[in-house]
Amino acid sequence: MSENLVDAGTRPIGVEGMSSGPLAFGCWRFAPTEAERAERALNAAIEAGMTLVDTADVYGFQEDSSGFGAAEVMLGRMLQAQPSLRDHIVLASKGGVRPPLPYDSSARALRAACEASLRRLRVERIDLYLVHRPDLFAHPIEVAETLVALRREGKVREVGVSNYTLSQHDAITAGLARNGTALAAIQPEYSAVHLDPARDGTFDRCCCGNITALAWSPLAGGRLASGEGVRPELLAVLDELAAREGVERAAVALAFVLAHPVRPVAILGSLTPARLFAATRALAVHLDRRDCYRIVEASDGAPLP
Ligand SMILES: NC(=O)c1ccc[n+]([C@@H]2O[C@H](COP(=O)([O-])OP(=O)(O)OC[C@H]3O[C@@H](n4cnc5c(N)ncnc54)[C@H](OP(=O)(O)O)[C@@H]3O)[C@@H](O)[C@H]2O)c1
Repeated sequence: MSENLVDAGTRPIGVEGMSSGPLAFGCWRFAPTEAERAERALNAAIEAGMTLVDTADVYGFQEDSSGFGAAEVMLGRMLQAQPSLRDHIVLASKGGVRPPLPYDSSARALRAACEASLRRLRVERIDLYLVHRPDLFAHPIEVAETLVALRREGKVREVGVSNYTLSQHDAITAGLARNGTALAAIQPEYSAVHLDPARDGTFDRCCCGNITALAWSPLAGGRLASGEGVRPELLAVLDELAAREGVERAAVALAFVLAHPVRPVAILGSLTPARLFAATRALAVHLDRRDCYRIVEASDGAPLP
């Protein structure tokens, strides 16, 4: 049988012994008015074996400018109601996006954001704290020093960044290294319709630096399941592989994410328990090199050179 590239193993995170399964649960879609739905989804995700929970201070923010911090507040309530949960999850959160001002990773703002997240989450420490988006007007050395200080003070266990370019990774990595720290994780968008991190050097840097890649929107926000706005040739390949593997198309799309040698963790955003359980079928999908390159080719809409 051909080599299976889909890696369903545990992924280490950082240097303190934390780890995550290949699938994680994200709180971006927590609606402030649907606490029960969010709670059911979180419990289903944990029952399905997802141990990394990804949130951010800005999750819950609504168009009418309400809701900043709402997802963390909901998560904090759940953690308080089920204290044992805290020991079973890797709690990841992000700061640095401050509506109506887009981004602020200045020392003062990032520190205040992290401390506010701790209060909302009702925890003493965030396991993995990421800068949500690059702030073009924050000096990378200053950002790194803030992250190092938060880590030294025990407010965060490991640090990371999200949506950074390769050169922005290099700059923050250099700043962290001056203080004996390294990025534990990065969080880029990655899916069968968004292959950039596999090509722009981001995943290569992770492979060489023991940095865990947390792939956001692994189903392209649901489009790979619904088919909306996705190249018909990509849907056809995914459907053919899904029929062969006896799973739904979404499971093949997730398996494709898990097949990259950087061993990404796919952060799922569904709040539907049945879909969260169904996602675990990705772990048993077999994709070899040919299958993966068929997906790449169909995603590009052009033959490989
Ligand atoms: N760092 C960043 O900038 C950033 C940006 C975006 C997201 N994220 C993180 O990534 C997480 C996931 O993002 P995402 O929500 O876009 O991920 P996703 O898993 O690609 O999409 C989830 C969406 O797809 C829908 N969906 C439709 N059919 C589905 C199926 N068969 N299986 C599963 N879902 C299906 C879900 O709807 P239902 O809920 O109705 O099932 C949900 O709305 C977020 O929660 C957040 O933690 C980070």
